[in-house]
Amino acid sequence: MFLRNRLATKTSALEPATGRSSPPPRPPLGTSSQAPSGRLPLASSSLPAATPGHRPPDGRMQLKAEVHRRLVEDLRRRGLDETATEAELRQAIGEVMDQTAASGRPLGRTERDRLVEEVYNDVLGLGPLEPLLADDDISEVMVNGPFDVFVERSGRIERAVVRFADEAHLRRIIDRIVSRVGRRIDDASPMCDARLVDGSRVNAIIPPLAIDGSVLTIRKFRKDPLKITDLLELGSLSGAMGEFLEAAVAAKLNVLISGGTGTGKTTLLNVLSAFIPGGERLITIEDAAELQLQQEHVIRLETRPGNVEGSGRVDQAELLRNSLRMRPDRIILGEVRGPEALTMLQAMNTGHEGSLATVHANTTRDALARLETMVLMAGMELPLRAIREQVASALDVIVQIERGQDGRRRVVGITEVVGMEGETIMLQEIYGFRKEGVREDGSVRGSFRAAGIRPKCADRLERAGLGLASDHWLAANQ
Ligand SMILES: Nc1ncnc2c1ncn2[C@@H]1O[C@H](COP(=O)(O)OP(=O)(O)OP(=O)(O)O)[C@@H](O)[C@H]1O
Ligand SMILES: [Mg+2]
Repeated sequence: MFLRNRLATKTSALEPATGRSSPPPRPPLGTSSQAPSGRLPLASSSLPAATPGHRPPDGRMQLKAEVHRRLVEDLRRRGLDETATEAELRQAIGEVMDQTAASGRPLGRTERDRLVEEVYNDVLGLGPLEPLLADDDISEVMVNGPFDVFVERSGRIERAVVRFADEAHLRRIIDRIVSRVGRRIDDASPMCDARLVDGSRVNAIIPPLAIDGSVLTIRKFRKDPLKITDLLELGSLSGAMGEFLEAAVAAKLNVLISGGTGTGKTTLLNVLSAFIPGGERLITIEDAAELQLQQEHVIRLETRPGNVEGSGRVDQAELLRNSLRMRPDRIILGEVRGPEALTMLQAMNTGHEGSLATVHANTTRDALARLETMVLMAGMELPLRAIREQVASALDVIVQIERGQDGRRRVVGITEVVGMEGETIMLQEIYGFRKEGVREDGSVRGSFRAAGIRPKCADRLERAGLGLASDHWLAANQ
């Protein structure tokens, strides 16, 4: 096969077997990006009011607030209702802006256009967040109350220049986001997961739970998802690791991806899923659908939170149980986080091979410990030894990823689960990353290494016709 040959010949064989180019992300369930015929839903009640914030508003803020106030009257006068088009609205904002500014400090053309854009974003879009969402170098947006906005850019966290007028302004934007997916956030339910129209994952939590103001965290959806070739170029894993993972997924080994928060688990899961041969029936189960599988035969399931009374909730365990009756060839579990762990292990042990999942854990051993705890949460009162036996016989390979101090995400270990010895699950590292130091520019110096042993699963790869060359396992040959 494999990766290296493919890379060398610069073919796009790593593209999905169907040969389709990446489809645009499907709009999330329950969202509509725009009202039909280009008319935009305009909620005049959501216009930011001219209320002063905790900090005194500057001149621009005052001008914007005044424009907002006048805009409502102006739209009413013009007979523009809730369904004003984008163009009508922009024009109205421009005119109101000119009238309002005429009585104060003169505005330059660029400044005026920027203000029109900002007011437009406040009225219809996501306000100060819009420029951050439009910036492709930003992968995460973190709003810690109205005045502190941070972003992750190229793996590093930095402060953004934007801010909200006040807490009420931030809350209006949050309300707009969550109401679009038919959810709400208020005293009764002060935390909420939602998604933007483009598929970006959003979490919001409001006071009093969030002590210093509402907090919004947005994991931006990549329009162009990372592929294995990107990860290799980014130095996230070695070519040999990539070849092994490709063979392991194609040969239907059960693979668990483990890593801390934001280390790239979902991204790696997505990348590995591209190695699943076409023609298989795949079922994905996620809390918030993020995976972008390229295969033709994919069924996507997503959990549902309960309503205010707490009824109607459907969790991953239920979806997983249901999916077993849907004739899956493979089950892909976005993140194992609770009692579904037991069902997952049972499924892996009863013929649903080639399952892929991620788990939130900082080391490979921790990943095992977390699985044990999650199985205990299922309430079956299994003895620990029985749980460990399930884990040991279900899992074949654990991939550990980390975000280094230089912001780079790396596969720091690929470990085989070899069995049990007494009460202990035996692990054997196949590849690792050895850190050697930190350069002056802060980047980490180190290298990917093979442990130099031929793993037990090498036989399975061979039986599946996916064997790797015998020198592949040599420590020197990475
Ligand atoms: N190897 C990589 N190199 C550079 N950026 C990456 C890499 N993997 C993931 N990313 C980026 O890092 C961010 C987090 O990735 P991802 O959502 O996959 O993490 P996660 O571990 O699943 O996070 P969470 O714990 O929140 O579910 C995304 O913006 C993604 O595009
Ligand atoms: Mg994730």
